[in-house]
Amino acid sequence: MKHFLSIADLTPDQLYNLLDLGLQLKQEWQAGGNKPRLQGKSLALLFQKPSLRTRVSFEMGMVHLGGYAFYLSPNEVKMGGRESIPDVARVLSSYVDGIMARVFAHDHITSLAEYSSVPVINGLSDYNHPAQALTDVFTILEAKGKTTGLKVAYVGDGNNVARSLMFAAVKLGMHFSIASPPGFTLTAADLDLGRSFSVDGADVEATTDAKTAVADADVIYTDVWTSMGQEEETARRLQVFPPYQVNQQLVSLAHPDCLVMHCLPAHRGEEITDEVADGPNSVLFTQAENRLHAQKALLVTLL
Ligand code: CP
Ligand code: NVA
Repeated sequence: MKHFLSIADLTPDQLYNLLDLGLQLKQEWQAGGNKPRLQGKSLALLFQKPSLRTRVSFEMGMVHLGGYAFYLSPNEVKMGGRESIPDVARVLSSYVDGIMARVFAHDHITSLAEYSSVPVINGLSDYNHPAQALTDVFTILEAKGKTTGLKVAYVGDGNNVARSLMFAAVKLGMHFSIASPPGFTLTAADLDLGRSFSVDGADVEATTDAKTAVADADVIYTDVWTSMGQEEETARRLQVFPPYQVNQQLVSLAHPDCLVMHCLPAHRGEEITDEVADGPNSVLFTQAENRLHAQKALLVTLL
């Protein structure tokens, strides 16, 4: 593994190794702190879009491991505007040991990786969010003690987060069911790619009915209806997405011990109610904390 651009690129064994290491690093951190495995190593955090979790969890992950990280804002680098992406990659990678980047277009991250001499980590593109998906399956494994045979129901927009989650779920033997309004689900090509990664008979299903997706679910997952970069579609999306709200009535149709997950930030009252976000099934804030632990495994492995 040289870069971390998509869960699609990882074998199930590579995924399990990252999860095992992440669990070990979480225990070590909780027992008093991590060993300085990345002493002398540096990570550039390059952003074209806003962030709370991604920026802070990668930065603090490096700090906990004895390394150094620094933030480069969208206005500072103006990647692809002030300077071409290949040139940014060539220059930046001559200074640092790794680059974590959040970009609009997915080809920006693949281009960074192509021209970088150091590992590139995808911190979200319009196509996917693999560091989030790694954390999501980490959180499921930690809570449930297994992955194989579980059912993950994703309710909402067939977006970057949904796509990565599908890849990670089926590679670990979890069934994946997505419920979205017509025209807002993952593409047929995405779903076929997901099926091609299936391990232990994991199914991939797409429906327009939220109730069908959550039946027998062990995990219900949702995300914002309008992602960063789609702001001009907000009004249209607000009209079609309300039947896909994760509320108590929907959660009651899943297993009683079903986990409710959301990558955050949440638009409370839209895709998820306060009652569910703050309710007994919610693992939203454990999931957010786990960004730190799961990504440390990634940093130790790549750097
Ligand atoms: N979930 C997530 O990536 O959050 P941020 O956009 O705050 O980084
Ligand atoms: N789908 C959301 C995820 C934010 C972490 C977005 O791309 O804006």
